[in-house]
Formats: sequence, structure tokens, C-alpha cells
Amino acid sequence: MTSRSRDFWEDRYRTATEAGSSLWGADPNGWIADRVAALATQPGLAIDVGAGEGRNAFWLAGRGWRVVATDFAASAVAGMRRRAVEAGAAVDAVEADATTWHSAEPADLAVLCYLQLEPDALADAIARAAESLARGGLLLGIWHDRDDVARGLGGTMTPAIRTTPEETAAAARAAGLEIELSGRRDRDTPAGPACDCLLVARRP
Ligand SMILES: C[S@@+](CC[C@H](N)C(=O)[O-])C[C@H]1O[C@@H](n2cnc3c(N)ncnc32)[C@H](O)[C@@H]1O
Repeated sequence: MTSRSRDFWEDRYRTATEAGSSLWGADPNGWIADRVAALATQPGLAIDVGAGEGRNAFWLAGRGWRVVATDFAASAVAGMRRRAVEAGAAVDAVEADATTWHSAEPADLAVLCYLQLEPDALADAIARAAESLARGGLLLGIWHDRDDVARGLGGTMTPAIRTTPEETAAAARAAGLEIELSGRRDRDTPAGPACDCLLVARRP
């Protein structure tokens, strides 16, 4: 078992909360923000799965989306709930495991941002996100690319919880989604470029 445990994440978020610091910062992921900004459709219901501190969820809410933001770390969820009340933001934070939770209300958008899981668990999480989508709903996924470990940048260095475009596209296809984009892109980090694995898939 190499997936990071709930206790591992809970400890990280509790420590960050006590220190008044943030693990992921306030800005949304640039690729997610660009893809959402380019959508022709009106904002509807979005789910942000493994949302952490909610940087993408709160950015989406600021653009008119209603957001259900899930994470299995209780401290992360508590932090998102506090922020939603303080900001009056339309973010409903839910403590849930990504491999089993799906939205009761069909969602127009599902975001999975650096939800690094082993292949079977990731396939389960993609399947649950796919089940959560309304017809025509869009899944946006971004992960640390497994083949990029040699460069040593950009997130976990545990290959088993990195992934590839081939694996994420296969999981999305198996979940009944149509693939609109499956590929890689370099992302600038202070230490140099790191490679992300990307997925855009739609429920037909
Ligand atoms: C690298 S962080 C990314 C957080 C956020 N998506 C972002 O980009 O800022 C990965 C997050 O996934 C959550 N996570 C990992 N495994 C999970 C699971 N099985 N179910 C729900 N959340 C999970 C962790 O608690 C953590 O918040």
C-alpha cells in the first residue's frame, strides 16, 4: 500500500492549520482555471474531488459555480467549511473518500487536481466522478506524470501514485466517458519544469 493514508493527510492539514499556513496556496491550478474560463457553458454544479484546502473550489465559486468539495482529511474539510462561511462562498465541503463517494445531484463539472492514488484506486475515483456527471458534463483531471520521476520535480516521487495519460484515459473510457484530451504538459516550478498528465473527458 503506497497511497498516502488519511492519517498522513490529516496530520499535514492539522499541522498547517495550527501554524496558520497553507499547503497549496490560494491560487487555482492554472490549467484547470484556463480550461474552465474557456468553457462556453454557464456555471452549474461542480464537484472538486480531493479538494484539499479548496483553492480550485473557491475559485470556481467565485465564478458562479455551486461547488461540492470533498476530501477524506477532516481538517481539510473543516478548513473549507470555515472559509465558506467567512467568505459566504457557495462551497459545500464534504468529508468523503474519493474511491466511494459520488454526487447525488448530477454535476456539470468534475475536477480532480493532483489526486494521486494507486492505479486501482484512481480508476475507482474516476469512475465515481464519471457517475456524478450529468449528460454532457465534463471531467478535468491533472496529475503528476509517472514517467517524469527522473526529473525529480512536481509533487510526490512515489511512482506508484503517479499516473500516465494512458492509464487515466483508460479509466475514463471504462467509466463510459468520451475522451476530449489526454496528454502531458510541462509546468514551470521554481526548480525547473515538471510534467503533468492531463485528462479532459465528457459524459455522453
Ligand atoms: C496533493 S493534494 C491536492 C489538493 C487539491 N486538489 C489541490 O490541488 O490543491 C491531494 C488531496 O487528495 C486528498 N486525498 C487523497 N486520497 C484521497 C481519497 N482516497 N479520498 C479523498 N481525498 C483524498 C488528500 O487529503 C489531499 O487533500
